[in-house]
Amino acid sequence: MARLSFVVFVSLISVVSTQFIPPYTEDCRADMYPPKGPTFKGRVTWYTVDLDLHPSKRWMPLITDKKAELVSMMQTIKDLANAFVPSGKLVEMVDKALPFLVETLPYPFGDELRGVAAASGLPLGEVVLFNIFYEVFTVCTSIVAEDPKGNLFHGRNLDFGLFMGWDMKNRSWIVAEQLKPLVVNVDFRRNNQTVFKSTTFAGYIGMLTGIKPNVFTLTMNERFSLDGGYIGILEWILGQRKGMWMSFLTRSVLENATSYEVAKTRLAQTELLAPAYFILGGNQTGQGCIITRSRLLSLDILEIDLKLGRWYVLETNYDHWKAPLFLDDRRTPGMTCMNKTTQTNITLKTMYSVLSTKPVLNKLTTYTTLMDVSTGNLESYIRDCPNPCMPW
Ligand SMILES: *[C@@H]1O[C@H](CO)[C@@H](O)[C@H](O)[C@H]1NC(C)=O
Ligand SMILES: *[C@@H]1O[C@H](CO)[C@@H](O)[C@H](O)[C@H]1NC(C)=O
Ligand SMILES: *[C@@H]1O[C@H](CO)[C@@H](O)[C@H](O)[C@H]1NC(C)=O
Ligand SMILES: *[C@@H]1O[C@H](CO)[C@@H](O)[C@H](O)[C@H]1NC(C)=O
Ligand SMILES: *[C@@H]1O[C@H](CO)[C@@H](O)[C@H](O)[C@H]1NC(C)=O
Ligand SMILES: *[C@@H]1O[C@H](CO)[C@@H](O)[C@H](O)[C@H]1NC(C)=O
Repeated sequence: MARLSFVVFVSLISVVSTQFIPPYTEDCRADMYPPKGPTFKGRVTWYTVDLDLHPSKRWMPLITDKKAELVSMMQTIKDLANAFVPSGKLVEMVDKALPFLVETLPYPFGDELRGVAAASGLPLGEVVLFNIFYEVFTVCTSIVAEDPKGNLFHGRNLDFGLFMGWDMKNRSWIVAEQLKPLVVNVDFRRNNQTVFKSTTFAGYIGMLTGIKPNVFTLTMNERFSLDGGYIGILEWILGQRKGMWMSFLTRSVLENATSYEVAKTRLAQTELLAPAYFILGGNQTGQGCIITRSRLLSLDILEIDLKLGRWYVLETNYDHWKAPLFLDDRRTPGMTCMNKTTQTNITLKTMYSVLSTKPVLNKLTTYTTLMDVSTGNLESYIRDCPNPCMPW
């Protein structure tokens, strides 16, 4: 199954990229901050999720507010699915077969998904489907960098919606466009105090991007793998439920880990349903790493190492010790721009410029998030990539 999807992946890449030969790249951007102009689509609204409420109630205010956008996005996905399997059977299957998965999820996730379904009026199966999409349709860039004073900055582009319907006219991904209005910043509180903050999509309860103020910052990127991508999910559906869902692990770490080291150990050692990259930043010098995960274990941890001149780590969707897929090299442009910026000049502002350089910025980029652990600041921006622009 993983092999088949890899073949599909490569052939789709080939088809879409014929619209874009040669690959569109540009010189490193500068002075992009504060966000403005055609690559900046809008600010992101803040919401509060009160962790003291019952899990089925805590998303209610946010989902009530974003209901129309969420329903519209799911309708688009259903239209795409119906175009793919015209009988409507695919959607019927989702509505019938997926709700039971909610029973199998650990506290608090099952109840939270029920709450999202209740607040949005969407069938539970569709809410579940949206929450497992991450497995298949994301590509991203994450960077943790240390300045000469030992401050750690963490930035990321979240690129979501790969292969979810290419709009030939607009040269855009239909689902990526629909996701932009769903981007929200969330302040998760307990006892009326911030526990962590995150950028996420309304209706998505796992975390891909977050900060525990003064303690650590965390992002997750998908890791494509021939042996394991979807097998874990399939096993879960079939009843063998050992590993943890990746974005539930990041959520749990953001909520409950008390230090960089504790977070690192949990991210490196918890058995997962699928491979992943975790990009973790701490609150003091040298604390920044990429954890490359297989389902069972950590394959490699690459850390900031000032003695070796490694003042930042940057991860896209390929193992750092291997070359990226030749049609999808966002790593080299990203590193080129980081190297040009130099450690002396790295700030959230200059990092935003790096993340605004095509193809690090591409047609899938839905948001850019910037995090400064020492101030606890998380800010995010909805993005656009005007033509000419790479599809990923
Ligand atoms: C395509 O572009 C048109 C005109 O700008 C816009 O009205 C439409 O919503 C776009 N379609 C999508 C799927 O983004
Ligand atoms: C919660 O905190 C906010 C600001 O931090 C404050 O305005 C509000 O009164 C607090 N609410 C309660 C119930 O303590
Ligand atoms: C965090 O820990 C609390 C207390 O043990 C637990 O109730 C909660 O479910 C945990 N959160 C997550 C997301 O695992
Ligand atoms: C860094 O995190 C540790 C562990 O949570 C904490 O004890 C320490 O005070 C933090 N340091 C700073 C500078 O915030
Ligand atoms: C960036 O600099 C690092 C450290 O000097 C070097 O290893 C790497 O090859 C450079 N990458 C690019 C793309 O310039
Ligand atoms: C670093 O910033 C300073 C001050 O803004 C500027 O003069 C210098 O050219 C920058 N260096 C690089 C390598 O961009």
